[in-house]
Amino acid sequence: MSKTANISINGQSYDLPLVEGSEQEQAIDISKFRGQSGVITIDPGFKNTGSTQSAITFLDGEKGILRYRGYPIEQLAEKSSFLEVSYLLIYGELPSSSELESFASEITTHTMVNEDIRKILDGFPSSAHPMGVLSSLVTAQTAFYPASLDPNRSPDEINIGIIRLLAKMPTFAAWAFKKQKGHPLIYPNNQLDYCSNFLNMMFGLPATQYEADPAVTSALDQLLILHADHEQNCSTSTVRIVGSSQASLYASISAGINALWGPLHGGANQAVIEMLENIKADGGDTKKWMAKAKDKDDPFRLMGFGHRVYKNFDPRARIIKKAADDVLEKLGVVDPILDIAKGLEEEALSDQYFVDRKLYPNVDFYSGIIYRALGIPTDMFTVMFALGRLPGWIAQWKEMRENGEPIGRPRQVYVGETDRNYIDISSR
Ligand code: ACO
Repeated sequence: MSKTANISINGQSYDLPLVEGSEQEQAIDISKFRGQSGVITIDPGFKNTGSTQSAITFLDGEKGILRYRGYPIEQLAEKSSFLEVSYLLIYGELPSSSELESFASEITTHTMVNEDIRKILDGFPSSAHPMGVLSSLVTAQTAFYPASLDPNRSPDEINIGIIRLLAKMPTFAAWAFKKQKGHPLIYPNNQLDYCSNFLNMMFGLPATQYEADPAVTSALDQLLILHADHEQNCSTSTVRIVGSSQASLYASISAGINALWGPLHGGANQAVIEMLENIKADGGDTKKWMAKAKDKDDPFRLMGFGHRVYKNFDPRARIIKKAADDVLEKLGVVDPILDIAKGLEEEALSDQYFVDRKLYPNVDFYSGIIYRALGIPTDMFTVMFALGRLPGWIAQWKEMRENGEPIGRPRQVYVGETDRNYIDISSR
């Protein structure tokens, strides 16, 4: 028998269907409620609102569980590769070895971008933030592939758009970095794997290929896996809502990149390093900064702490913390801000303010330390996040489309002036 929830408003009772997920999560389906009652629900920040039924990623914030298509993040981070995880997210199953081989080969043959992209890149000043450059170059793909604008194109045409985006994103990201440095652009090298090719475009020189330390490529691959999807977060919801208007894949992903940019979302990894550097420059007194974070009159927040859904620990942060220790040791990097980070974490975990509010280090607390050790500059950190999140955004966009979801259009409770007459300017 189907379950229902009962809501009573001013003595009038309404039965609403309950929707149950495969992990027994329950939701009240209010989609027809306004028609029955004239009442809407309100939930700023969508803190308790499900926007879709999705089969991609499961997370339980209380238990610290994160699974892509049912596979625990811990197993994927240890045993899989970023391209395999991308395939899993986008197509729903782990690939066979021949499927993975042809997926990887398709991606490597689409890494080159149209030469005219260089002209667009030239138009940016070197002071341009690489996230702005990245989102612009992704939108610009609609100009080079105008067929991508057709909302009724075939699954094969959609798929080639997906492959192109996965293939070209490292090129855009690395070129945004080279532009900022004023260095010559390095073209993709299709003999290299996904991460090595990206690192070569970032750090290689025209005459010298960058020889990446295996510890570096494997740490980068793991970081990308850990960022690959995170269900209906701010940027993913943005991708789905923009895509729900039948805007193209490129336009939808570009919007997601912009949503990720903010310091309360993907921009937090940059903000963490800036915060740790400030603390170091200020003498390294972590207690002083802890006090600032707790002071309600001070806007300062401990960046990299707290999460909308994880209220016990962020499973990605556990994996990353260990990876940060390993990478720094393997590369022989001594980073004083790592000690500050560890000190802050230790203090926060035993501080009543943080304990009461269930504030724990999130994925971004340690990712920036690894990126620094890999030689990636601070304002490229969010670009790295976007590179990792791309397959998740694509999978969510594809699912939204295949489900035939309606255009996203929330309602509101209006609190402005009621009806009034126009006042002529001479009388104001
Ligand atoms: N430092 C100090 N206090 C904090 C912090 C923090 N980092 N995060 C939350 N709090 C406090 C709030 O002041 C609030 O206190 P109050 O109840 O006394 O008013 C309480 O904890 C709840 O915070 P909210 O902002 O209501 O929680 P919300 O779920 O809306 O926000 C968020 C989550 C945005 C991640 C928040 O914890 C934050 O700003 N953290 C720092 C930025 C950050 O690291 N972002 C990365 C998120 S992970 C990601 O996007 C990949």
